[in-house]
Order: sequence, then structure tokens, then C-alpha cells
Amino acid sequence: MLLEVRDLQVEFRTRDGIAKAVNGVSYSVDAGETLAVLGESGSGKSVTAQAVMGILDIPPGRITGGEILFRDRDLLKLKEDERRKVRGAEMAMIFQDALSSLNPVHSVGDQLGEMFVVHRGMSRKDARARAVELMDRVRIPAARERVKDYPHQFSGGMRQRIMIAMALALEPALVIADEPTTALDVTVQAQVMDLLADLQREYNMGLILITHDLGVVADVADKIAVMYAGRIVESAPVHDIYKAPAHPYTRGLLESIPRLDQKGQELYAIKGLPPNLMNIPPGCAFNPRCPMAQDVCRTDVPPLYEVDEVRRSACHFWRECLHG
Ligand SMILES: Nc1ncnc2c1ncn2[C@@H]1O[C@H](COP(=O)(O)OP(=O)(O)OP(=O)(O)O)[C@@H](O)[C@H]1O
Ligand SMILES: [Mg+2]
Repeated sequence: MLLEVRDLQVEFRTRDGIAKAVNGVSYSVDAGETLAVLGESGSGKSVTAQAVMGILDIPPGRITGGEILFRDRDLLKLKEDERRKVRGAEMAMIFQDALSSLNPVHSVGDQLGEMFVVHRGMSRKDARARAVELMDRVRIPAARERVKDYPHQFSGGMRQRIMIAMALALEPALVIADEPTTALDVTVQAQVMDLLADLQREYNMGLILITHDLGVVADVADKIAVMYAGRIVESAPVHDIYKAPAHPYTRGLLESIPRLDQKGQELYAIKGLPPNLMNIPPGCAFNPRCPMAQDVCRTDVPPLYEVDEVRRSACHFWRECLHG
């Protein structure tokens, strides 16, 4: 396995108390595989990813338990300089907002080239040539001319392509894309997503794709982890989940996807809000919003039940959910 996160726990110490942002998360991704991580705002998707990348805000954040095994090393046991090497060359992250991730005062060619100068010891001239190649790779038209341009001279979609190029420059084994298309127009979103999926296949990378958008997931992901209040509540191969969810929260997410064939119909939304992480409800954290909740759900935290060999659900009533 390329990456295996085991029972990860992350807390944030704030003035109001301790927020348990990640509460025993386990997931894995192999070379050539795409794991989609889903869940509403605040469920711990980004914090988990930041812990994997080693870019968590510490303090106020703190990793209080678990392991992050990457190519058979526990990243949490590495020294900071070793960790930095892994982060630079073996894994990379793509963020939502390219404009704030790219440096406004350097041309995109210089920024892309810098990767090769610093990490590969290339001359400026060779690095520039590689930058043009990379821009071609991410299908930026007229790359040879545009290599001298600055980030603000590109459209949002093109900037996102440049960030993808930066992430892929050193051919990392793992890429984490945190809502990579959220800030883009719908049509551009699809193009950028297609590009990312193509490159993932070409480079045989492991890809963790964090998204709100269940619509894109079906096309690109191999498997899905659904997060709620810092936990994984369901994990399964992508097709199983679309056939029949084994957790009422997953079902709620699926039913909130806008469908073109049901135009005009009112969109289903999961009622209520996710819990305050400083005060997670007893029992199943989803119980106050769950249409299937029974007494046991208000008292007993559901373990991750084995629905089958490849599928897990943290619902006491996963059978009813699956067949209902
Ligand atoms: N720097 C921080 N300081 C304090 N608390 C934080 C910090 N970063 C995250 N948190 C806490 O961790 C929780 C999970 O945050 P995270 O960014 O992982 O959510 P997310 O699932 O990525 O949501 P979104 O979809 O909005 O990006 C937040 O609700 C917040 O309580
Ligand atoms: Mg996030």
C-alpha cells in the first residue's frame, strides 16, 4: 500500500476548548488509485490531509494518536528535515485557490522551473525548458510564449492547471487535491477534473481527492470515504456506494446531488447542521439529523461494521439502510 492512515487523531486547542477535528480516521490509497473523501464542511477532510502532508498548523493543532504509513515508513516518526524531503519530492498537494498558492511576483515559468533547479539541480535554461514541457502537459495553449507570464495574467482554470503542473513536476507518488475545482465555473471544473484524472493514470499516482461534489466522484474515484464529525462513517468501492449506501448520511449526500433529469424538483437537503466538534453528541454523532435513528443511536457510538470484505459502515442499522 502506498499510503495507509491508521486511527489518526487530531485536536485543536482553542480558547473555547478542545475541538476533536479528526477522531480515529483510517484510510488507504495505492499507486494508480483514486480515493475520494467526502463530507460536509468541517468534517475533518482537510485536517486529515494536512496531517498526511505534514503541513498541519501546530499549534493550535496536535496529532494525539495514530500512524501515517507512506511507503512503509511512519511519517509521524520522521525528523522534520526527512519529512520535508518526502513532502517536496514524493507527495504534493493541490489547493482550491491557485491565486493564493502561486507567488504573484514571479512568472509561472520561474516558479515551475524553480522546482527543477532546487530539487534536480538543473540549470536555469534547462529548468525553463522543462517548465514549458509541463505547461504543455497540462494543456496550456501557447506554453512557450506564456511561460513568461505572471499568475494574475491567467484565467482561473489555467491557474489551476499551473498548480497541477507544480504538483506533478517532480512526479510524486501521491497527490492530494483538496477541492481542486470548487472555485471554478462548472464547465471549467469538468475540464480540470478530466485533466487531473488523465495525469493520475499516466503517472500511476495515488490520488486523494477531497470534494463536496458527489457528481464528479463517480467518474474519477475508485473508492470513497465519507467523513462526518471527524470520523469515517462509510467507506466502499465507488460503485457499491452509488448502488446502495450503507449509511444514512451517505444516502443523504447522494439524495442532495442535483440531477439534470429532475429539473425543477426540489432538492433534498440533509436537515440540520453538523455538530460542534467541542461538543459531539453522545452515541452516533449523526443521530440528531438521522431519519433512521433509534434509542441505541443516542447512547452507543457505532463501530465501523464490516458490511463485506471491502465495505465499512458506522451505522447500527446498516442492513436496514442497505436494503431500505
Ligand atoms: N487552524 C485551526 N484552528 C482551530 N481549529 C481548526 C483549525 N483548522 C481546522 N480546525 C477545526 O477542524 C475542523 C475540521 O476542519 P477541516 O478543515 O478539516 O474541515 P473540512 O472537512 O475540510 O471542511 P471544508 O469542506 O469546509 O473544507 C473545523 O471545523 C475546525 O473546528
Ligand atoms: Mg477542507
